[in-house]
This record gives sequence, C-alpha cells and structure tokens, in this order.
Amino acid sequence: MGVVVEAENLVKTYPGKVTLYNFSLKINEGEVFGLLGPNGSGKSTFIRILTGLENADSGKMQLFGKTPGKENRKKIGVAPQENSVYSMLTCMENLLYFGSLYGVTGKKATEKAEALLSGLGLSDKKNVQAGFLSGGMRRRLNLACALMHDPKLIILDEPTTGLDPATRRRMWKTVINIMKESKATMLLTTHYMEEAEALCQKIAFVNEGQVVAEGRPSELKRMAGREMAKLRSIPGEYRKLEPLLMKIKGIENITVTEHGIVVESDDVSTKIAAVTRVFEKKKEKIIELSVSKPSLEDVFLKLTGAQLKEAVKVEIKK
Ligand SMILES: Nc1ncnc2c1ncn2[C@@H]1O[C@H](COP(=O)(O)OP(=O)(O)O)[C@@H](O)[C@H]1O
Ligand SMILES: [Mg+2]
Repeated sequence: MGVVVEAENLVKTYPGKVTLYNFSLKINEGEVFGLLGPNGSGKSTFIRILTGLENADSGKMQLFGKTPGKENRKKIGVAPQENSVYSMLTCMENLLYFGSLYGVTGKKATEKAEALLSGLGLSDKKNVQAGFLSGGMRRRLNLACALMHDPKLIILDEPTTGLDPATRRRMWKTVINIMKESKATMLLTTHYMEEAEALCQKIAFVNEGQVVAEGRPSELKRMAGREMAKLRSIPGEYRKLEPLLMKIKGIENITVTEHGIVVESDDVSTKIAAVTRVFEKKKEKIIELSVSKPSLEDVFLKLTGAQLKEAVKVEIKK
C-alpha cells in the first residue's frame, strides 16, 4: 500500500504566532484519515501547505511519494472550509467551471457534473443559482466541485461545521457513498469527535499545531482506559461472584466495592450476557447496570488537558 501524504516536522509561523510545530503524520492509500482538533489548532494551515497555497518555514512533505508540485497536486480535490462556490452561478455552471480548472471539459464534464449532482441529491437544483441553496446543499455542491476531476486525494476541511445535526448526518452518508464509489484517499478535518468516529479509519489528534496522537479510533480510545460495566444487586454478596466473573473470557479486571461490582473489558458490551448469567446463578437480583465507554473526547482530554470544542490559545514555543 502506497503512502499518499507524509509530513515530517513541519513548522509554520505567522508574525508572533507558531501555528504548526513539528507537525508530522502519514496517510496511507485508500484511508479515510481525520484531523481532529479544536478550532485554531492548525488543521486548515496544514491543508493550505499541503495544497500549495502556503509554504512551511521548515520540515519535509511528500505527496504521492514525491515533493509536492504542480503535477502531483493536480491529483488533489479540496472542498475548503469556506465554500468556494459562486453564488451567481447555477449548480451546473459551478461544476463546469471547477472542472475546467482541471482540464475537464465538454461532454465529459457535463456527464460528470450530472452524475455528481444526482449522487449528491442535487439533480433538481441543477439550474438553480448556488446563492439560493440551503446551507447543507451549498456544502454538498462545494464538495461536488472538488470531485469533478476524479481526484486521488479528496480533502474536506470541516465538511459539516455550521450545519444542523440532521444535515450533518446526511453529509456523512454522502461522504461514505463517495468513499464506496471511488478508490480515493480522503483527508478530512473536524472538531466533532462523533464525525471523526463515524467516518475515519485513522485519526490524528491535533492540538496547538502538533499531532499529539495518531491511530485507529479503537486504538486511541484504549489510551483512556478500558470499557467498564457497573452492577449492583440484591443481596449483594459480590465476593462470591468475583471468581466466576473472572472466568469469563475477555474480562480483564473486577473491582468489588460496598456499592457494587465493576467489570473491566476491552469490549464490555459483548460480555454483559455472560456477566448477568453469573448473577442469576448466584441468585443475585440486578438492580442497577451501567456501561461506560471511553470516548475520543476523553482521550483528547487526557493527552492535552484541553477539550475539543474549546479554542486553545496558541503560544509561541521556542
Ligand atoms: N494568515 C495568517 N496570519 C496569522 N495567523 C494565522 C493565519 N492563518 C492562520 N492563523 C492562525 O493560526 C492558527 C491556526 O489556524 P487554523 O489552521 O485555521 O486552525 P484550524 O483550522 O484548526 O481551526 C490560528 O490561531 C489562526 O489564527
Ligand atoms: Mg480550519
């Protein structure tokens, strides 16, 4: 499997501000890769450097195994954070315009535009000016414009920020469909952990211009600790249950307290049936059961002390 993007120790400063600091990551071919971090953490800056809109002060970057340049950047399709569609142009006209920038013209362009409009649920808006579309539709059109030239790397910068929850979910479906149909690699940024979790196979946590952790969502979540189930029962002779519970495959730890029993496992929800059978066998009536799973937010908090949604002040690091 090839490596599509490899960034090593990128540094980017603006006057009085370090925006990226030793920023490193690797994106493999075919992956949906998420940059997850709070506002101002440097996600869009990284994308601007990757796409050639700005240069890094130092560090190395490889795109499709080569130094980024005009040729390999042609294989990128970007849907920027701020919609780049023209409000006075119709959906079709926008698509044809963006296609033409990449040399997609004529019948091929019209066919591709029709296919994208239908795939993104915009067929009936084909001849409507972009300025008259709803926020969610304009966002989908912005995405479609990035796909006219069948890019090998699709970049979505905050695809759902500012959209209401229902429209956000609709956008997720669209993104999943695109990934099913194309063999492209995708890089998306978000500050919504649910979004990263719903869409991405790999996630890099970004905080104050640095990648603080990278991995599959399940791997990252393990960093915050195991999943737990808490149970309370009557009469509550938990010591008798302990040895039987320990025999259940995949149970890593049992803690008995006065108020109940805590069962830890990497995948605790699949163990609940076996756990409750032990309680039944010992004539313990379960009166309380709760399951807690560490979230990506928990991991981020543990690693950085910061919350995903709060804007983090970027200080100058020397
Ligand atoms: N052209 C610029 N001049 C000065 N500061 C900038 C510029 N572009 C971005 N920044 C700053 O860099 C930081 C990272 O911004 P950005 O990459 O947009 O973050 P994100 O996309 O993660 O929200 C922010 O503090 C922002 O104010
Ligand atoms: Mg941004």
